[in-house]
Amino acid sequence: MKFEGYAPCLNSEPYKMSLSPRFIAFLIATLITVIMLTFLSFVPAADAAVLFVAGVSCFVGSYFFIFFTIDILVFREVNRIYENVQKLKIKDFHVSKRTLIKSVNPLKKLNTEISAYVTKKQKEIDELKRMEAFRREFLADVSHELKTPIFAAQGFIHTLLDGAKEDPVILDRFLGKAAKSLDGLDALVRDLVTLSQVESGDLRMNFATVDLKHITEDIFEQLESKAEKRGTKIKIKPKELDSCFVKADKQRITQVMTNLIDNAIKYGKDDGKIVVEFEEDKKYYQISIEDDGPGIPPEHLSRIFERFYRVDKSRSKETGGTGLGLAIVKHILNAHNSKISVSSRIEKGTKFSFRLEKANI
Ligand SMILES: Nc1ncnc2c1ncn2[C@@H]1O[C@H](COP(=O)(O)OP(=O)(O)OP(=O)(O)O)[C@@H](O)[C@H]1O
Ligand SMILES: [Mg+2]
Repeated sequence: MKFEGYAPCLNSEPYKMSLSPRFIAFLIATLITVIMLTFLSFVPAADAAVLFVAGVSCFVGSYFFIFFTIDILVFREVNRIYENVQKLKIKDFHVSKRTLIKSVNPLKKLNTEISAYVTKKQKEIDELKRMEAFRREFLADVSHELKTPIFAAQGFIHTLLDGAKEDPVILDRFLGKAAKSLDGLDALVRDLVTLSQVESGDLRMNFATVDLKHITEDIFEQLESKAEKRGTKIKIKPKELDSCFVKADKQRITQVMTNLIDNAIKYGKDDGKIVVEFEEDKKYYQISIEDDGPGIPPEHLSRIFERFYRVDKSRSKETGGTGLGLAIVKHILNAHNSKISVSSRIEKGTKFSFRLEKANI
Protein backbone atom coordinates (compact mmCIF):
# COMPACT_ATOMS: atom_id res chain seq x y z
CA MET A 1 0.00 0.00 0.00
CA LYS A 2 1.34 3.43 -0.84
CA PHE A 3 0.64 6.39 1.36
CA GLU A 4 2.72 9.03 -0.33
CA GLY A 5 1.01 12.31 -0.98
CA TYR A 6 -1.74 11.53 1.49
CA ALA A 7 -2.29 14.88 3.11
CA PRO A 8 -5.38 16.56 4.42
CA CYS A 9 -6.70 19.13 2.01
CA LEU A 10 -9.52 20.77 3.82
CA ASN A 11 -10.95 24.18 3.35
CA SER A 12 -10.30 25.98 6.59
CA GLU A 13 -12.89 28.68 5.82
CA PRO A 14 -16.09 27.02 4.72
CA TYR A 15 -18.10 30.16 5.35
CA LYS A 16 -16.50 32.28 2.70
CA MET A 17 -18.87 34.86 1.24
CA SER A 18 -19.16 33.08 -2.12
CA LEU A 19 -20.46 29.91 -0.46
CA SER A 20 -22.52 31.25 2.38
CA PRO A 21 -26.24 30.54 2.50
CA ARG A 22 -26.79 34.29 3.08
CA PHE A 23 -25.07 35.22 -0.15
CA ILE A 24 -26.88 32.56 -2.17
CA ALA A 25 -30.22 33.67 -0.66
CA PHE A 26 -29.38 37.29 -1.47
CA LEU A 27 -28.58 36.47 -5.11
CA ILE A 28 -31.68 34.36 -5.72
CA ALA A 29 -33.96 36.84 -3.90
CA THR A 30 -32.56 39.71 -6.00
CA LEU A 31 -33.13 37.70 -9.17
CA ILE A 32 -36.74 36.84 -8.24
CA THR A 33 -37.42 40.49 -7.29
CA VAL A 34 -35.96 41.78 -10.58
CA ILE A 35 -38.02 39.31 -12.65
CA MET A 36 -41.15 40.07 -10.67
CA LEU A 37 -40.64 43.87 -11.01
CA THR A 38 -40.00 43.53 -14.73
CA PHE A 39 -43.35 41.80 -15.19
CA LEU A 40 -45.15 44.20 -12.86
CA SER A 41 -43.81 47.21 -14.75
CA PHE A 42 -45.93 46.10 -17.72
CA VAL A 43 -49.11 46.35 -15.62
CA PRO A 44 -50.50 49.88 -16.20
CA ALA A 45 -52.14 50.03 -12.73
CA ALA A 46 -48.84 49.47 -10.91
CA ASP A 47 -47.37 52.83 -10.02
CA ALA A 48 -44.02 53.49 -8.35
CA ALA A 49 -45.38 53.00 -4.81
CA VAL A 50 -46.91 49.62 -5.70
CA LEU A 51 -43.71 48.54 -7.44
CA PHE A 52 -41.66 49.58 -4.37
CA VAL A 53 -43.87 47.76 -1.84
CA ALA A 54 -44.07 44.66 -4.07
CA GLY A 55 -40.30 44.71 -4.66
CA VAL A 56 -39.38 45.06 -0.99
CA SER A 57 -41.85 42.43 0.22
CA CYS A 58 -40.84 40.02 -2.55
CA PHE A 59 -37.15 40.49 -1.76
CA VAL A 60 -37.52 40.14 2.01
CA GLY A 61 -39.89 37.17 1.71
CA SER A 62 -37.83 35.20 -0.80
CA TYR A 63 -34.56 36.08 0.94
CA PHE A 64 -35.66 34.62 4.29
CA PHE A 65 -37.43 31.66 2.72
CA ILE A 66 -34.36 30.68 0.66
CA PHE A 67 -31.92 31.43 3.45
CA PHE A 68 -33.71 29.24 6.01
CA THR A 69 -34.32 26.45 3.49
CA ILE A 70 -30.63 26.25 2.56
CA ASP A 71 -29.48 26.76 6.08
CA ILE A 72 -31.71 24.13 7.63
CA LEU A 73 -30.89 21.60 4.90
CA VAL A 74 -27.15 22.21 5.10
CA PHE A 75 -27.16 22.24 8.88
CA ARG A 76 -29.11 19.03 9.16
CA GLU A 77 -26.97 17.12 6.66
CA VAL A 78 -23.69 18.45 7.98
CA ASN A 79 -24.69 17.67 11.54
CA ARG A 80 -25.42 14.11 10.55
CA ILE A 81 -21.98 13.77 8.92
CA TYR A 82 -20.43 15.40 11.96
CA GLU A 83 -22.04 12.89 14.29
CA ASN A 84 -20.63 10.04 12.19
CA VAL A 85 -17.14 11.56 12.31
CA GLN A 86 -17.49 11.92 16.06
CA LYS A 87 -18.45 8.27 16.44
CA LEU A 88 -15.49 7.22 14.28
CA LYS A 89 -13.12 9.34 16.34
CA ILE A 90 -14.38 8.02 19.66
CA LYS A 91 -14.12 4.42 18.41
CA ASP A 92 -10.70 4.79 16.77
CA PHE A 93 -8.90 6.89 19.33
CA HIS A 94 -10.86 5.99 22.48
CA VAL A 95 -11.36 9.65 23.31
CA SER A 96 -14.04 10.88 25.64
CA LYS A 97 -16.98 12.91 24.30
CA ARG A 98 -15.77 15.91 26.24
CA THR A 99 -12.62 16.21 24.09
CA LEU A 100 -14.65 16.71 20.93
CA ILE A 101 -14.73 20.15 19.38
CA LYS A 102 -17.59 22.37 20.37
CA SER A 103 -18.75 25.07 18.02
CA VAL A 104 -22.07 26.40 16.83
CA ASN A 105 -20.97 26.45 13.25
CA PRO A 106 -21.41 22.85 12.02
CA LEU A 107 -19.23 23.25 8.93
CA LYS A 108 -16.39 24.67 10.97
CA LYS A 109 -16.86 21.95 13.57
CA LEU A 110 -16.86 19.26 10.90
CA ASN A 111 -13.81 20.71 9.22
CA THR A 112 -11.82 20.91 12.46
CA GLU A 113 -12.89 17.44 13.51
CA ILE A 114 -11.91 15.90 10.17
CA SER A 115 -8.57 17.75 10.22
CA ALA A 116 -7.80 16.41 13.69
CA TYR A 117 -8.89 12.92 12.66
CA VAL A 118 -6.75 12.93 9.52
CA THR A 119 -3.71 14.23 11.43
CA LYS A 120 -4.05 11.47 14.03
CA LYS A 121 -4.53 8.83 11.36
CA GLN A 122 -1.47 10.15 9.50
CA LYS A 123 0.56 9.76 12.70
CA GLU A 124 -0.64 6.17 13.02
CA ILE A 125 0.32 5.48 9.43
CA ASP A 126 3.78 7.01 9.96
CA GLU A 127 4.29 4.87 13.08
CA LEU A 128 3.20 1.73 11.22
CA LYS A 129 5.57 2.54 8.35
CA ARG A 130 8.42 3.10 10.82
CA MET A 131 7.72 -0.20 12.56
CA GLU A 132 7.51 -2.01 9.26
CA ALA A 133 10.92 -0.66 8.20
CA PHE A 134 12.30 -1.56 11.61
CA ARG A 135 10.93 -5.11 11.38
CA ARG A 136 12.43 -5.60 7.91
CA GLU A 137 15.80 -4.31 9.05
CA PHE A 138 15.73 -6.45 12.18
CA LEU A 139 14.90 -9.58 10.23
CA ALA A 140 17.75 -8.90 7.80
CA ASP A 141 20.17 -8.33 10.69
CA VAL A 142 19.09 -11.46 12.57
CA SER A 143 19.36 -13.68 9.52
CA HIS A 144 22.77 -12.23 8.69
CA GLU A 145 24.06 -12.77 12.24
CA LEU A 146 22.70 -16.32 12.38
CA LYS A 147 24.09 -17.18 8.97
CA THR A 148 27.70 -16.38 9.86
CA PRO A 149 28.29 -18.94 12.68
CA ILE A 150 26.10 -21.57 11.00
CA PHE A 151 28.08 -21.35 7.74
CA ALA A 152 31.37 -21.44 9.62
CA ALA A 153 30.47 -24.55 11.65
CA GLN A 154 28.98 -26.17 8.55
CA GLY A 155 32.20 -25.50 6.60
CA PHE A 156 34.45 -27.08 9.26
CA ILE A 157 32.27 -30.15 9.67
CA HIS A 158 31.93 -30.77 5.93
CA THR A 159 35.68 -30.41 5.44
CA LEU A 160 36.20 -33.03 8.15
CA LEU A 161 33.62 -35.34 6.59
CA ASP A 162 35.29 -34.94 3.19
CA GLY A 163 38.42 -36.60 4.55
CA ALA A 164 40.23 -34.07 6.72
CA LYS A 165 39.21 -36.06 9.81
CA GLU A 166 41.93 -38.60 9.03
CA ASP A 167 44.50 -36.10 10.27
CA PRO A 168 44.07 -35.99 14.08
CA VAL A 169 45.59 -32.49 14.35
CA ILE A 170 43.17 -31.04 11.80
CA LEU A 171 40.31 -33.01 13.34
CA ASP A 172 40.98 -31.41 16.73
CA ARG A 173 41.45 -27.91 15.36
CA PHE A 174 38.37 -27.95 13.14
CA LEU A 175 36.15 -29.46 15.80
CA GLY A 176 37.33 -26.74 18.19
CA LYS A 177 36.51 -24.05 15.61
CA ALA A 178 33.09 -25.55 14.87
CA ALA A 179 32.37 -25.68 18.60
CA LYS A 180 33.41 -22.02 18.97
CA SER A 181 31.06 -20.99 16.15
CA LEU A 182 28.22 -22.91 17.75
CA ASP A 183 28.97 -21.31 21.15
CA GLY A 184 28.70 -17.92 19.43
CA LEU A 185 25.39 -18.99 17.91
CA ASP A 186 24.15 -20.06 21.32
CA ALA A 187 25.15 -16.72 22.88
CA LEU A 188 23.45 -14.85 20.03
CA VAL A 189 20.19 -16.78 20.38
CA ARG A 190 20.23 -16.27 24.15
CA ASP A 191 20.77 -12.51 23.68
CA LEU A 192 17.92 -12.40 21.17
CA VAL A 193 15.59 -14.18 23.58
CA THR A 194 16.52 -11.78 26.40
CA LEU A 195 16.06 -8.78 24.12
CA SER A 196 12.66 -9.89 22.92
CA GLN A 197 11.61 -10.61 26.50
CA VAL A 198 12.68 -7.22 27.83
CA GLU A 199 11.19 -5.41 24.87
CA SER A 200 7.84 -7.13 25.11
CA GLY A 201 7.76 -6.62 28.87
CA ASP A 202 7.69 -10.37 29.49
CA LEU A 203 10.80 -10.34 31.58
CA ARG A 204 9.88 -10.15 35.25
CA MET A 205 12.40 -8.31 37.36
CA ASN A 206 13.10 -9.79 40.75
CA PHE A 207 14.15 -6.79 42.74
CA ALA A 208 16.18 -7.54 45.81
CA THR A 209 19.04 -6.07 47.79
CA VAL A 210 22.26 -6.88 45.96
CA ASP A 211 25.85 -5.96 46.60
CA LEU A 212 27.07 -4.53 43.32
CA LYS A 213 30.65 -4.37 44.54
CA HIS A 214 30.64 -8.09 45.18
CA ILE A 215 29.04 -8.73 41.77
CA THR A 216 31.72 -6.59 40.10
CA GLU A 217 34.50 -8.57 41.80
CA ASP A 218 32.94 -11.82 40.57
CA ILE A 219 32.83 -10.43 37.03
CA PHE A 220 36.48 -9.36 37.31
CA GLU A 221 37.35 -12.94 38.19
CA GLN A 222 35.42 -14.35 35.26
CA LEU A 223 36.96 -11.93 32.80
CA GLU A 224 40.43 -12.12 34.32
CA SER A 225 42.02 -14.26 31.60
CA LYS A 226 40.48 -12.11 28.85
CA ALA A 227 41.85 -8.98 30.50
CA GLU A 228 45.26 -10.58 31.05
CA LYS A 229 45.54 -11.48 27.39
CA ARG A 230 45.27 -7.78 26.55
CA GLY A 231 47.33 -6.65 29.51
CA THR A 232 44.35 -4.69 30.87
CA LYS A 233 44.29 -3.63 34.52
CA ILE A 234 40.85 -3.49 36.15
CA LYS A 235 40.14 -1.76 39.44
CA ILE A 236 37.36 -0.59 41.69
CA LYS A 237 37.14 2.96 43.01
CA PRO A 238 37.06 3.95 45.87
CA LYS A 239 39.54 1.34 46.99
CA GLU A 240 38.28 1.26 50.56
CA LEU A 241 34.64 0.64 49.54
CA ASP A 242 33.27 -2.34 51.47
CA SER A 243 30.00 -2.85 49.67
CA CYS A 244 27.46 -1.20 47.39
CA PHE A 245 23.95 -2.30 48.28
CA VAL A 246 21.37 -1.41 45.65
CA LYS A 247 17.84 -2.44 44.72
CA ALA A 248 18.21 -4.55 41.59
CA ASP A 249 17.56 -7.83 39.83
CA LYS A 250 20.76 -9.71 40.55
CA GLN A 251 20.93 -11.74 37.35
CA ARG A 252 20.05 -8.80 35.09
CA ILE A 253 22.32 -6.28 36.74
CA THR A 254 25.15 -8.82 36.47
CA GLN A 255 24.41 -8.98 32.75
CA VAL A 256 24.64 -5.17 32.55
CA MET A 257 27.95 -4.97 34.42
CA THR A 258 29.39 -7.94 32.49
CA ASN A 259 28.65 -6.37 29.13
CA LEU A 260 30.01 -2.96 30.10
CA ILE A 261 33.23 -4.38 31.58
CA ASP A 262 33.58 -6.88 28.72
CA ASN A 263 33.18 -4.02 26.21
CA ALA A 264 35.79 -1.97 28.03
CA ILE A 265 38.24 -4.89 27.75
CA LYS A 266 37.35 -5.73 24.13
CA TYR A 267 37.27 -2.19 22.78
CA GLY A 268 39.83 -0.63 25.13
CA LYS A 269 43.52 -0.47 24.26
CA ASP A 270 46.22 -3.05 24.93
CA ASP A 271 47.78 -2.58 28.37
CA GLY A 272 44.95 -0.21 29.19
CA LYS A 273 43.20 0.57 32.45
CA ILE A 274 39.55 0.14 33.42
CA VAL A 275 38.02 1.80 36.46
CA VAL A 276 34.64 0.83 37.89
CA GLU A 277 33.58 3.62 40.20
CA PHE A 278 30.78 3.73 42.79
CA GLU A 279 29.75 7.20 43.91
CA GLU A 280 27.28 7.45 46.72
CA ASP A 281 24.72 10.13 47.44
CA LYS A 282 21.66 10.24 49.70
CA LYS A 283 19.35 8.06 47.64
CA TYR A 284 21.42 6.64 44.82
CA TYR A 285 24.67 5.04 43.79
CA GLN A 286 26.17 6.44 40.59
CA ILE A 287 28.05 3.63 38.85
CA SER A 288 30.51 4.26 36.06
CA ILE A 289 32.74 2.05 33.94
CA GLU A 290 35.58 3.94 32.32
CA ASP A 291 38.35 2.83 29.99
CA ASP A 292 41.26 4.65 28.41
CA GLY A 293 40.78 3.09 24.97
CA PRO A 294 40.42 4.63 21.51
CA GLY A 295 36.93 6.02 22.29
CA ILE A 296 33.79 6.18 20.15
CA PRO A 297 33.45 8.82 17.41
CA PRO A 298 30.67 11.33 18.29
CA GLU A 299 28.55 10.44 15.24
CA HIS A 300 28.21 6.86 16.56
CA LEU A 301 27.52 7.70 20.18
CA SER A 302 23.73 7.99 19.90
CA ARG A 303 23.48 4.78 17.89
CA ILE A 304 25.50 2.27 19.92
CA PHE A 305 22.40 1.34 21.96
CA GLU A 306 20.57 0.17 18.84
CA ARG A 307 20.40 -3.56 18.22
CA PHE A 308 23.24 -4.94 16.09
CA TYR A 309 24.94 -1.56 15.92
CA ARG A 310 28.72 -1.80 15.93
CA VAL A 311 31.07 1.08 15.39
CA ASP A 312 33.78 -0.82 13.61
CA LYS A 313 32.10 -3.87 12.12
CA SER A 314 35.28 -5.67 11.11
CA ARG A 315 36.95 -5.13 14.49
CA SER A 316 33.81 -6.17 16.37
CA LYS A 317 33.70 -9.31 14.27
CA GLU A 318 37.27 -10.10 15.31
CA THR A 319 36.28 -9.70 18.94
CA GLY A 320 33.11 -11.73 18.45
CA GLY A 321 30.48 -9.14 19.36
CA THR A 322 27.05 -9.05 17.76
CA GLY A 323 26.06 -5.57 18.88
CA LEU A 324 23.18 -6.70 21.09
CA GLY A 325 24.88 -6.10 24.43
CA LEU A 326 24.20 -2.39 24.85
CA ALA A 327 20.61 -2.71 23.55
CA ILE A 328 19.99 -5.23 26.33
CA VAL A 329 21.80 -3.03 28.89
CA LYS A 330 19.58 -0.07 27.98
CA HIS A 331 16.37 -2.07 28.41
CA ILE A 332 17.43 -3.69 31.67
CA LEU A 333 18.37 -0.32 33.15
CA ASN A 334 15.07 1.16 31.97
CA ALA A 335 13.32 -1.62 33.87
CA HIS A 336 15.32 -0.45 36.91
CA ASN A 337 14.01 3.12 36.39
CA SER A 338 17.45 4.18 35.33
CA LYS A 339 19.12 5.44 32.19
CA ILE A 340 22.52 4.70 30.77
CA SER A 341 24.64 7.60 29.60
CA VAL A 342 27.90 7.59 27.71
CA SER A 343 30.67 10.08 27.15
CA SER A 344 33.68 9.41 25.02
CA ARG A 345 36.74 11.20 23.74
CA ILE A 346 38.80 9.95 20.83
CA GLU A 347 42.09 8.40 21.98
CA LYS A 348 41.23 9.27 25.59
CA GLY A 349 38.57 6.73 26.51
CA THR A 350 34.92 5.98 27.10
CA LYS A 351 32.77 6.21 30.20
CA PHE A 352 29.38 4.56 30.66
CA SER A 353 27.39 5.54 33.73
CA PHE A 354 24.02 4.94 35.33
CA ARG A 355 22.51 5.18 38.78
CA LEU A 356 20.63 2.75 40.98
CA GLU A 357 18.54 3.32 44.05
CA LYS A 358 20.27 2.44 47.31
CA ALA A 359 18.81 -0.47 49.22
CA ASN A 360 17.54 0.08 52.75
CA ILE A 361 19.62 -2.09 55.00
N1 LIG B 1 34.08 0.90 25.84
C1 LIG B 1 33.96 1.00 24.53
N2 LIG B 1 34.91 1.62 23.77
C2 LIG B 1 34.77 1.73 22.45
N3 LIG B 1 33.72 1.28 21.74
C3 LIG B 1 32.73 0.66 22.43
C4 LIG B 1 32.79 0.50 23.85
N4 LIG B 1 31.67 -0.13 24.26
C5 LIG B 1 30.95 -0.37 23.14
N5 LIG B 1 31.58 0.11 22.04
C6 LIG B 1 31.07 0.08 20.65
O1 LIG B 1 29.66 -0.10 20.71
C7 LIG B 1 29.28 -1.24 19.94
C8 LIG B 1 28.07 -1.89 20.57
O2 LIG B 1 28.41 -2.53 21.79
P1 LIG B 1 27.57 -3.79 22.27
O3 LIG B 1 28.00 -4.18 23.63
O4 LIG B 1 26.13 -3.48 22.03
O5 LIG B 1 27.96 -4.89 21.19
P2 LIG B 1 29.20 -5.89 21.12
O6 LIG B 1 30.03 -5.79 22.36
O7 LIG B 1 29.88 -5.63 19.81
O8 LIG B 1 28.48 -7.28 21.04
P3 LIG B 1 27.83 -8.11 22.25
O9 LIG B 1 27.81 -7.22 23.46
O10 LIG B 1 26.44 -8.41 21.73
O11 LIG B 1 28.68 -9.30 22.39
C9 LIG B 1 30.50 -2.12 19.90
O12 LIG B 1 30.50 -2.95 18.76
C10 LIG B 1 31.63 -1.12 19.86
O13 LIG B 1 31.86 -0.70 18.54
MG1 LIG C 1 29.15 -5.91 24.27
